[in-house]
Amino acid sequence: MNLKGRNFLKLMDFEPEEILYLVDLAAELKEKKKQGIMHNSLIGKNIALIFEKTSTRTRCSFEVAAHDLGMHCTYLDPSGSQIGKKESIADTARVLGRMYDGIEYRGYGQEIVEELAKYAGVPVWNGLTNEFHPTQMIADMLTIREHLGELKGKKFVYMGDARYNMGNSLMVTCAKLGIHFVACTNRKYFPENQLVEYCEEVAARTGATIRLTEDVAEATKDADVIYTDVWVSMGEPAEIWEERIKDLLPYQVNEKAFENAKDTAIFMHCLPAFHDLKTGVGKEIHEKFGLTEMEVTDEVFEGPRSVVFDEAENRMHSIKAIMLATLGES
Ligand code: CP
Ligand code: NVA
Repeated sequence: MNLKGRNFLKLMDFEPEEILYLVDLAAELKEKKKQGIMHNSLIGKNIALIFEKTSTRTRCSFEVAAHDLGMHCTYLDPSGSQIGKKESIADTARVLGRMYDGIEYRGYGQEIVEELAKYAGVPVWNGLTNEFHPTQMIADMLTIREHLGELKGKKFVYMGDARYNMGNSLMVTCAKLGIHFVACTNRKYFPENQLVEYCEEVAARTGATIRLTEDVAEATKDADVIYTDVWVSMGEPAEIWEERIKDLLPYQVNEKAFENAKDTAIFMHCLPAFHDLKTGVGKEIHEKFGLTEMEVTDEVFEGPRSVVFDEAENRMHSIKAIMLATLGES
């Protein structure tokens, strides 16, 4: 498998075998790290990390992975560069491409990261856009495999806002890997038709199925994985909380959602999560709307089915795999 020189912008650009190769490589690098075996074959390379939105996991994963691989990185925060304000994406790409061996971008529209990749001349990795969050997918697939043994044929249920980066990316990934994907939410939050049609075509070849439903009991029946994400994503206006709560509260992941699922079912969340009142936003929402937990109850989040911290750790191993595969050994 040779992914050297490739961008990592969305999983629609990758074949199932390529995605599985990255999951395998992440597992291998994780095992090596646990054993204290260094893998710094990218020594001497430099990468740039552009964050137009905030981050904990993605930024730390890129920084730790880069360091482990022997690379140096430069972090450009949401206000610390000229990007978009005084310099176009195309110009920025051509400047950074002269200095760095790879560029990570987290920001708004998918077209921005696509434009960056078009002009950079070095691999570009999508660290999250409004539409997709592909590095999270490798971590999520690794986590499912670690807990359930296999990916193909599993039933994956996504509850909540299914028309944004996480719902979109998970539907594509499941379709590619032969996983049965169910988006269980108010129909206002179903993924866009065009993406659903694309995924159905892919699913027809891989043995996956794609189902969109508002019925929680039907969706969660025999589920292997129940996944959710925040109801309001970065960059969305705070005014929409009220509507989101009204629309999505019936799709909160709670113990009842797991009643119908398999005994072995796991709970996943890309994080950060609103499961208690220990966050600023959580407290504000509590004061305004009286909720003490949102997309997932604290009971599920802290319970034995929850694998969210394995998932968070796997971000680092999988981002390391993505960088290693696309930059190649030096
Ligand atoms: N899951 C995820 O991307 O987390 P961060 O926003 O903290 O990077
Ligand atoms: N949908 C979330 C994902 C965070 C990792 C957001 O875009 O804010």
